[in-house]
Amino acid sequence: MLSEAKHPRIWLKGNAETLRCAQGGGPSGVTLFSVTRHQQADPVSQTHLKAGLRMLELRNLTKRYNRVPAVDNLDITLEPGEVYGYLGPNGSGKSTTVKMLTGLLEPSQGHIFYQGRDIRDDLVEYRKHLGYVPEEPLLYPYMSGLEYLQLVGRLRSIPQAVLDRKVERLLDLFSLRGRRHSPISAYSKGMKQKVLVCAALMHDPDILIFDEPLSGLDVTSVLVLRGVVRSLAREGKIILYSSHILEVVEKVCSRVIILHKGRVVANENVGRLRDLMHSPSLEDVFSQLVLEEDTEQVAKEIVETMKM
Ligand SMILES: Nc1ncnc2c1ncn2[C@@H]1O[C@H](COP(=O)(O)OP(=O)(O)O)[C@@H](O)[C@H]1O
Ligand SMILES: [Mg+2]
Repeated sequence: MLSEAKHPRIWLKGNAETLRCAQGGGPSGVTLFSVTRHQQADPVSQTHLKAGLRMLELRNLTKRYNRVPAVDNLDITLEPGEVYGYLGPNGSGKSTTVKMLTGLLEPSQGHIFYQGRDIRDDLVEYRKHLGYVPEEPLLYPYMSGLEYLQLVGRLRSIPQAVLDRKVERLLDLFSLRGRRHSPISAYSKGMKQKVLVCAALMHDPDILIFDEPLSGLDVTSVLVLRGVVRSLAREGKIILYSSHILEVVEKVCSRVIILHKGRVVANENVGRLRDLMHSPSLEDVFSQLVLEEDTEQVAKEIVETMKM
């Protein structure tokens, strides 16, 4: 439960419209902060209540590093059953958003609601519903893949017998069985990535967040992972798939959110977005929306510089 003393304005911000209605439609501002303690004791997102859905909502979400916004006032709703491609050039704020979604970073402003509740109210509980594949394959190098997955499973409180079966099966399916006893330090980047994917899926979470999950994976694993993501969407999971690779997003995602300098410049169904921009592929859409550099020219100049 939200502590009013700690976050006096959280509930109010997320529910300005409701409050206005409740108080007879008065103007925003002063009236917003004059509700009773009783009303503030229920910090739920009204969008969630209206839709009756198990969704993830980013509301006025901002993260600043040294006063410079890396993510600026995001307003995004993620619903179950869709795969949201989170797309943008390097430095556009994808990983910063993902880190806030996983609770690793605290927003400078704004909130994230899951099932209508601010995730920061009870991060431990929220994380039980979350599977996260980070961009960096940070794993314990001296552990084997098998040991690592066993450790993660135990931390997730998966019963030992189930865990043993799950780990064996996942190692098999991701073609890691032959190397399951080798230390992770001896794994290739792709193998490490597969271990991270297994770890994220193991507790059957409701929310899955992938940050550039295909880096280092071979073709077969890419195809397997794509299939997994699509199946998870059909199962009604909430999926955010962050990547700067357009082709991948186009193949895996049903919706695409395009980020540019920390702001959302498009949030559309993939097909619709293309229609809108009269472009044959998302790549064109992307160039129209965010690409500022003349890539051909830059490439030419790099080669010329090499010859200097
Ligand atoms: N820990 C940090 N300290 C300062 N600036 C950061 C930090 N992390 C990210 N940034 C900056 O925030 C912006 C967004 O970064 P990031 O979210 O990693 O982008 P993306 O994942 O889209 O490549 C970039 O300008 C980056 O330099
Ligand atoms: Mg990133």
